[in-house]
Amino acid sequence: MTVTGKARIAGVMGWPIAHSRSPLIHGHWLERYAIDGAYVPFGVRPEDGAAALRALPKLGFAGTNVTLPHKVTAFETVDVRDAAATAIGAVNTVVVQPDGSLAGSNTDAPGLLAHLQAAAPTWRAGAEPAAVLGAGGSTRAALFALLEAGVPEIRLANRTREKAEALAAAFGPKVTAVDWAERSEMLAGCGLLANTTSLGMAGQPPLDIALEDMPEGAVVYDIVYVPLETPLLAAARARGLGVVDGLGMLLHQAVPGFAAWFGRTPEVDADLRAVVLKDLAP
Ligand code: ATR
Repeated sequence: MTVTGKARIAGVMGWPIAHSRSPLIHGHWLERYAIDGAYVPFGVRPEDGAAALRALPKLGFAGTNVTLPHKVTAFETVDVRDAAATAIGAVNTVVVQPDGSLAGSNTDAPGLLAHLQAAAPTWRAGAEPAAVLGAGGSTRAALFALLEAGVPEIRLANRTREKAEALAAAFGPKVTAVDWAERSEMLAGCGLLANTTSLGMAGQPPLDIALEDMPEGAVVYDIVYVPLETPLLAAARARGLGVVDGLGMLLHQAVPGFAAWFGRTPEVDADLRAVVLKDLAP
């Protein structure tokens, strides 16, 4: 698609930026919907994040995605933040407003939820407790998303227990910190297990956990998407549990930004998944 002088411009700001799949995702949608727009990678050094964001309205850009290491800087720099960004303390999507101010949101949480609901339609958020592993930025997104969805109780285990306790304190009484050593036992009665650690990622050790205590019909979600089928998901599949991989969140988190910048709500479908999967292939 050729861009004209009227093209809407957005992108993704990060350092390093070469690994980002966002240009592929947004580029696919721009092509598909024949939109006069461009989505470009911005390699912005760590110390330049705030200045680069403040330059967006001056350059006439529609906005930008923000990735490492700028998500907290973006949170601090924007003029308004949505509820997810406020709870998570990080902004991954910035939309330039008509008056030139910057609106920041965190679309990881709604992206995760949209993906879970699409990939595991039988999962009922309000029915049973959920178990979450980890205490990083994506854990915060998962906690926000699950509480928003109405999960009655979240058991949170992290190798470094203090971090799980800090998150439990921040997210309120529905979230309880559990010792990392108790991660298998805490699954009893849980309708969902969400791994938000890096365990199971290519080059990392597998996640060592026993799924025997999960009830029939429970769902296992892994945020890791390289490989797509982690040892955790393979074990869940072997036990007949629902399986949700990490790729969908990457795709779904891109939807709100695209809609705001380019004026059309894009679809996450098999075509898009295939494009990104092909790019992930070793
Ligand atoms: P994010 O990208 O979500 O911000 P992160 O801050 O890099 O993630 O955190 C990675 C998560 O994986 C952490 O919860 C980390 O546990 P610690 O808080 O104890 O560091 C977890 N993690 C990484 N390697 C691990 C391992 N070998 N065993 C257990 N947990 C591990």
